[in-house]
Amino acid sequence: MRFALTLALLAAALPVFAADPSPLVIPKPVALTRDSGSFTLTPQTVIVADTASQPAARILADQLFKSTGYRLPIQSQANGAAIILRVEGSAAAGAESYKLAVASSGATITAPAYAGIANGVQTLLQLLPSAIYSDHEVKGRTWVIPAVRIEDQPSYAWRGMMLDSSRYFFDKAFVLRYLDIMAAHKLNVLHFHLIDDAGWRLEIKKYPKLTEIGAFRGEGPTRQGGFYTQEDIREIVKYAADRNITVVPELELPAHTLSAIAAYPWLSCTGKEQKVPAVHFISDDLYCAGKATTWQFLHDVLDEMCVLFPSTYIHIGGDEAKYTKWKACPDCQKKMKELGLKSEHELQGWMTTEVENYLKKKGRQILGWDEILGCGVSTTAGLMPWHDPKAVTEGAKRGNPLVLALTNRCYFDVPESKEPGEVPGATWLPPISLQQAYEWHPTPDGLTPQQEKTVLGAEGCLWSDQFLHKPFLADTTPFNEDRSARYLEYLMLPRAAALAEVTWTPKASRDWKDFSTRMARQYARYAAAGWNHRLPIPQVTFTKGTDGKLTATAVSEVEDGGIRYTTDGNWPLAYSPAYTKPVTVEKESDFRAVAVNADGHISLPFQTKAADNRFAKYGEQIGEWKSGKVGDRKPLTVEFDATGKINQAGTYEVTFQFTDGKQRLDIDSVEVFLNQDSVAKDVHHGTTGATNDKNVYRLKVDRYETGASFKIRAAVYGDEGSDSNGVVLLKKVP
Ligand code: ACM
Ligand code: ZN
Repeated sequence: MRFALTLALLAAALPVFAADPSPLVIPKPVALTRDSGSFTLTPQTVIVADTASQPAARILADQLFKSTGYRLPIQSQANGAAIILRVEGSAAAGAESYKLAVASSGATITAPAYAGIANGVQTLLQLLPSAIYSDHEVKGRTWVIPAVRIEDQPSYAWRGMMLDSSRYFFDKAFVLRYLDIMAAHKLNVLHFHLIDDAGWRLEIKKYPKLTEIGAFRGEGPTRQGGFYTQEDIREIVKYAADRNITVVPELELPAHTLSAIAAYPWLSCTGKEQKVPAVHFISDDLYCAGKATTWQFLHDVLDEMCVLFPSTYIHIGGDEAKYTKWKACPDCQKKMKELGLKSEHELQGWMTTEVENYLKKKGRQILGWDEILGCGVSTTAGLMPWHDPKAVTEGAKRGNPLVLALTNRCYFDVPESKEPGEVPGATWLPPISLQQAYEWHPTPDGLTPQQEKTVLGAEGCLWSDQFLHKPFLADTTPFNEDRSARYLEYLMLPRAAALAEVTWTPKASRDWKDFSTRMARQYARYAAAGWNHRLPIPQVTFTKGTDGKLTATAVSEVEDGGIRYTTDGNWPLAYSPAYTKPVTVEKESDFRAVAVNADGHISLPFQTKAADNRFAKYGEQIGEWKSGKVGDRKPLTVEFDATGKINQAGTYEVTFQFTDGKQRLDIDSVEVFLNQDSVAKDVHHGTTGATNDKNVYRLKVDRYETGASFKIRAAVYGDEGSDSNGVVLLKKVP
């Protein structure tokens, strides 16, 4: 009952406020003072807004109308109870800062610029009951706002979310919805991944085939795709701006661009006809760096992009370029010779700088994935470190502006856990829990104050390459309705809330426990808004009474919901018995519980995992081998995922432990792969069966990269057949 207890303590400490909801704001404001009393919204309340604040006033009025049914007028002044929005005061605190005061007479938001007003409106909504987020009228509620004084401003200027509309086309309606979700978290940059191998989504008037051909893939009934017209983009950019969100478009170069090459084959080195791929892969067809036609194309596309997107930054991609085609291209090789470039990396660096210079003339700046650092870019190019955290410190020392999108904190296409029933997601990285998405800080230690200024912020990435792999989405029945968009929201929420607080709230006032307590209401907001989300699994403790009876006590971190449970080992559903008090059980594994919220959303179940500690001294289990799946007298390669388990350079031991079957297991070799590269190998013959002989393999891993996958491959076989079962364990040697 941790949450209930917290509220009870709060109520006891502040008896005057007992009738008002306590303010639970995410991201946590810099300063919040609770005053006595409250303000209640009525149909007579008016919104008073100056000219500059009009869009925010309309956003507020529209949301209040949807959920309360009150159509509050927007006026230039008022006599009675009012919500006042006013741009005023000094900009010393920053354009995004705001002050919000709520007293019995009404609420006032002031800010030095429109951005702050937009932020203040979002905080005001969070001070209201969570049902304020509903898209339909909620009857029989009193809309009480507790009296507070808030002074607030963000820690970082770039609080982003990336949306990959290339691999999966999310339509305009969904993009607007995504912007609403971002705005509710005060996330202020939409990094729009519009172009990749699998789809070109941006209408370019001068090159119509980019969308006629590049925006669709597959044939016949399985043909799918879509794109945004320039009119759509203008609407998206305006909708975003009203919500204090800047849209930063990404023009991937030189790689991830097969959709453009499918439309205009002359963009590549070979000029060969290509198709937009219908499965995920990264093409080695790059824009040809040596042909003048490529440059004409890039300039034309950038010209149209800059008219559509007013953002200071234009993302130019730069990741994962494989140079096979460039190496074989006479034009690219000639260009390298002409420029005195010694490698294809330098050619990419040159291309990047050419684009940077072109955009500089238009008053724009480039930003690219961390690979561009290794290509010798300028110190003015923005860097987006993803797989290489060293790029953060290195970039900061050079003075490059930095936006962190680290794979182990920000890649929200990775699921939150490996619990049974967890949604499938990207598998090349270990899970990122909500806590892991919360407990980090974008600015690394050890930088000078000047270097610290280079860190603009961070962003969450929602790659949709896994949406290309249809089958697992079809298997995911809870998301069958409007499947992919619902699925994306589930991956986004609640981790976007963690990112929002990481980038908004000063490090010193961030605390995981406190965040979890405030999140209880955030889940209720998601439910009211109809945004799909993942609920935390209830926390369960078991106690044995003096009578010897075993009792399960469950706590949910979700407001306005509850816990449902079973004691027969079945998965609880929204209609299983409601948990109201501790439950007596025979054994721990009988008790399963799910958290439920007001809209009937359920969490994954709490369930006791059967512990097998027999082999714990050999480390963590990374896999098993099964009867029939190993070689029969001849070695067969088996593979185990060690991503996240090999988590630094060092020496590791892999141990094979036979559990049952007719044959012992023979092992010839064990090899470790970092992505595709072999990084360690131990070749010796070992066996495990009734007895063990040399069944431990020692591997010295010198190379480690955050975000890289680690695989362990072993050549194994049963000595007289393949009926052998057992487990494989991994341990770091201290
Ligand atoms: C990336 O994930 N390729 C930036
Ligand atoms: Zn070329």
